[in-house]
Amino acid sequence: MLALSLKYLLIGLVCASLKAEFRANSINLSQLDPLTPNKIRISQGTDSPVNINIVWTNNKIIGLSNAVVTKVTGFGEDLTKKHSIAFKVHGGVSLVGDYIVSGKILILPIQGEGKSNLTLVDPTFRIEFSGAAEEKNGDIYMKLRNFRLPIEPKSMIYKFDNLFNGDKALGDNMNKFLNENWKEIFNELVKFSPNIHMRNILRNDYIGDNSINLSQVDPLIANKIHINQGSDSPVNINVVLTNNKIYGTSNAVVTKVTGFGKDLAKKHSITIRVPGGVSLLGDYVLSGKVLILPIQGEGKSNLTLVNTVFSIDFAGVADEKDGEVYMKLKNFRFHVDPQSFIFQFDNLFNGDKALGDNMNKFLNENWKEIFNELRASIEKEFGAVVEKVIGQVYTKYPYAKYFNE
Ligand SMILES: *[C@@H]1O[C@H](CO)[C@@H](O)[C@H](O)[C@H]1NC(C)=O
Ligand SMILES: *[C@@H]1O[C@H](CO)[C@@H](O)[C@H](O)[C@H]1NC(C)=O
Ligand SMILES: *[C@@H]1O[C@H](CO)[C@@H](O)[C@H](O)[C@H]1NC(C)=O
Ligand SMILES: *[C@@H]1O[C@H](CO)[C@@H](O)[C@H](O)[C@H]1NC(C)=O
Repeated sequence: MLALSLKYLLIGLVCASLKAEFRANSINLSQLDPLTPNKIRISQGTDSPVNINIVWTNNKIIGLSNAVVTKVTGFGEDLTKKHSIAFKVHGGVSLVGDYIVSGKILILPIQGEGKSNLTLVDPTFRIEFSGAAEEKNGDIYMKLRNFRLPIEPKSMIYKFDNLFNGDKALGDNMNKFLNENWKEIFNELVKFSPNIHMRNILRNDYIGDNSINLSQVDPLIANKIHINQGSDSPVNINVVLTNNKIYGTSNAVVTKVTGFGKDLAKKHSITIRVPGGVSLLGDYVLSGKVLILPIQGEGKSNLTLVNTVFSIDFAGVADEKDGEVYMKLKNFRFHVDPQSFIFQFDNLFNGDKALGDNMNKFLNENWKEIFNELRASIEKEFGAVVEKVIGQVYTKYPYAKYFNE
């Protein structure tokens, strides 16, 4: 029962943040641009005027970053309602890569193999589905039902290179024919495949166990991180990390959620476990002393947390603005608990390899004491990033809106 409500809460939380994004009318899909779908295959039967067999491989879908959400319904607490998102892309969305085609379009034979570029011009996409609860091993999972992906382009541009073994006259004519009859051909083609791919994308976000798939924010880009430990600490160092990316968060699994209900004043907390390593990779500049050893260097670093539990908690405080109640975060706390920590600072001591290797060895052998000394700074620096992300979700709209239909 507890697990069940946790899962609903979690789905609610994910939906609330998505909804917040959608309501802001600008989902930033740049992480999905380009998208790299698996093989796409369309096999149209002889009862269709477009009787072809086409396989696209190594394709990219380019252009989704210009998507603007125009309408959202559903995504409330009730997962069984119909959910839909409509978005419009200004400009083209192109499927670009390799193709193999054979068959007939109307009475014309078509055959070829090479590069293709299919472009939907100013398309509108609607993603529609309803959720259904499915019980597995006593837990409730959300499954997508009645998934549909209607696509309405203003027009469509086909470009198949190397049709008919490179016969230019035949190939140019066929492309011309396809473009002149784009609408009829498109209507025949969409009866089939693209749904499958979008369904797989959504599946990662909405279905599953209690794993949140953070692959879209993996790597995460961290701003400059400055850790400055005072001289009263045995680890008296000054580290500045720049151009860093955080890798490995896509394996995150939520193990506990409390709060996040209608009562904003309750304590909200999330516990996330990340199996494997979470690595912070980038440039560092370091100087100071570790115990009695001087340390100094500048170069690339790889700081890896192993099998880590992250916990976040905060209280909600009502913040009234223009007669509406928003949630502000108070007493935000971020805890990091790794099973171990691996330091790799390249080019310590101006590249003196013996000194550098020894220092890395020393840091790793004493990781626990060093990490504990640095923990407060680390939690403060990273907590600030996480707090900002969560805070932004809730400052966009009055709190009650997250639970409205
Ligand atoms: C989208 O996010 C990327 C980084 O992920 C950023 O560079 C870009 O400016 C953002 N675009 C918009 C329109 O906010
Ligand atoms: C694909 O075709 C569209 C429309 O003709 C064009 O704007 C776009 O640049 C092409 N993309 C590539 C990668 O060739
Ligand atoms: C997360 O989603 C990506 C695609 O977006 C997929 O390749 C990966 O396997 C998923 N990871 C998990 C743990 O489900
Ligand atoms: C960073 O260090 C971890 C732990 O040693 C290692 O598994 C990972 O491959 C390293 N990453 C890179 C890019 O070197």
